Amino acid sequence: MALATRTDRHPSLVRVFWASTVGKKAVMAVSGLIMLGYLVAHVMGNLKIFFGPEEFNAYGHWLRTMGGPVLHEKWALWLVRVALLAAVLAHGVSAYQLSRRDLRARPVRYVHRRRRTSYATRTMRWGGVILALFIVWHLLDLTTLTVNPRGQEGHPYENVVATFSTWYGDVIYLVAMLAVGLHVRHGFWSAAQTLGAGNAARDRTLKVLANGLALVLTAGFVSVPVAVMTGVVS
Ligand code: HEM
Repeated sequence: MALATRTDRHPSLVRVFWASTVGKKAVMAVSGLIMLGYLVAHVMGNLKIFFGPEEFNAYGHWLRTMGGPVLHEKWALWLVRVALLAAVLAHGVSAYQLSRRDLRARPVRYVHRRRRTSYATRTMRWGGVILALFIVWHLLDLTTLTVNPRGQEGHPYENVVATFSTWYGDVIYLVAMLAVGLHVRHGFWSAAQTLGAGNAARDRTLKVLANGLALVLTAGFVSVPVAVMTGVVS
């Protein structure tokens, strides 16, 4: 009796889904929406900086103790971190594989290859790279405090003010916030199409929603460095 080899077995549904272009796009859409949900919560938390150090630092403390007394300190925070990391990895890997597939699918190499990718595609790819680099810098700046000019544990208000009191802090965050806006604008629209929410009647509403969301998020995030630069928050 011959033993079953790997190729005899049917591939699992998950494998078939992940191997398909539409499957990878769905993974991008869902992971993108998870991160968008986090950004909406994050920008609301950031706006608490306008209510003073006590309120903002108390919010920073709550992030570590949320879920208690059922959960031990930082357990809920770690659950959020693991979910976000999974979303970032799923998003990045599917984006990379889709772009490789896109290049391979071309029958002949274009002479002017650069010109053939659309403005939106280029913005999304470069925006994604900028955001990935920004997230690393941001974690080193305000979570591990490694590169923060003040770096005082338990004092996020003072640390944020210290970051935006340097010219490079302002430049890094303002460029990244612009990338966030552009990425969310096109990404939200693409995700809605991939997940089947778009149709001729709804497309206009979806575009308005994507633009509005991108604008509100960018304005909310940008308001913090601008407030420090202008002395409104100090
Ligand atoms: C002006 C804009 C922003 C400010 C002032 C800001 C501020 C902060 C602060 C103060 C923390 C640390 C909270 C704490 O541990 O006490 C933090 C954490 C974090 N931020 Fe931001 N943030 C900004 C934009 C962003 C953006 C655009 C993203 C994503 C693209 C992002 C992703 C994160 C992540 C992933 C964490 C780590 C949460 C954790 O695991 O502890 N932030 N941010």
